[in-house]
Amino acid sequence: MAQIKTLEDLERMAPACQLASETLEYLKQAVRAGISTLELDALAEKYIADRGAIASPKGYRGYPNSICTAVNDVVVHGIPTAKPLEEGDLITIDVTVYKNGFHGDKAATVIVPGKRNPEGERLLRVTEAAMYLGIAEARAGARLGDIGAAIQEHVEAAGFSVVRDFCGHGIGRMFHEDPQVLNYGQRNTGRKLRPGMVFTVEPMINAGTWEVRILRDGWTVITQDGSLSAQFEHTIAVTASAPRVLTLFTEHEHAMWASYQKPDRAG
Ligand code: MF3
Ligand code: CO
Ligand code: CO
Repeated sequence: MAQIKTLEDLERMAPACQLASETLEYLKQAVRAGISTLELDALAEKYIADRGAIASPKGYRGYPNSICTAVNDVVVHGIPTAKPLEEGDLITIDVTVYKNGFHGDKAATVIVPGKRNPEGERLLRVTEAAMYLGIAEARAGARLGDIGAAIQEHVEAAGFSVVRDFCGHGIGRMFHEDPQVLNYGQRNTGRKLRPGMVFTVEPMINAGTWEVRILRDGWTVITQDGSLSAQFEHTIAVTASAPRVLTLFTEHEHAMWASYQKPDRAG
């Protein structure tokens, strides 16, 4: 049973979500050829600690670092490494912080400046749009399957594939709560959405096949065929009207959400 958050819970959760966003923007501007994901991890750890919060991943089920970083064919849960980023690399940074008794979770994919990566750019744009299309479905009375279907339709129409083995999740006082939010599925199936449900929408999209495998470090997930993978993530709340995107932060994100959300029904 998904936990229902009160308005007061949401007001306490908003700062955690905004700090996750602020940290992610800070890390995005630090991305350049030559920096390693381990260095980004150290920047994140300090940035979050300096603001009186905790990086949720560190120690979570034995996870060793403060953020997850997924470069090129890494899909999700990438453990930061000492390898320097290269121009044109595709990198997903996933930040989760704990503050005020609540977690906020957010991820975005960017391309390391210096060299064009046309396939990576198209994958990134399709993944981001798919996430907003999914979020737009998260209205009271709709079902979880509506979110997955909207994501899957957009991704597959573009010739890409939806990773099946990982999904979005309820979030709040705990990092991962009920329900599971699949990035594929059928409309009008799955649990009904109710105001106060808070969860992430975080599609992982591969340029090739959806199959993945896990490296021997026990965490890092890569595409089976070596193709590129991208991911975007927001933490959202279902309300009586439009979904509230708690991790909405940059101008670009506000503009994207404004263009993808469904208008409120009149009356
Ligand atoms: N932030 C990831 C998510 O979106 C989870 C990372 S779990 C960790 O759910 F242990 F790898 F940090
Ligand atoms: Co998440
Ligand atoms: Co995340």
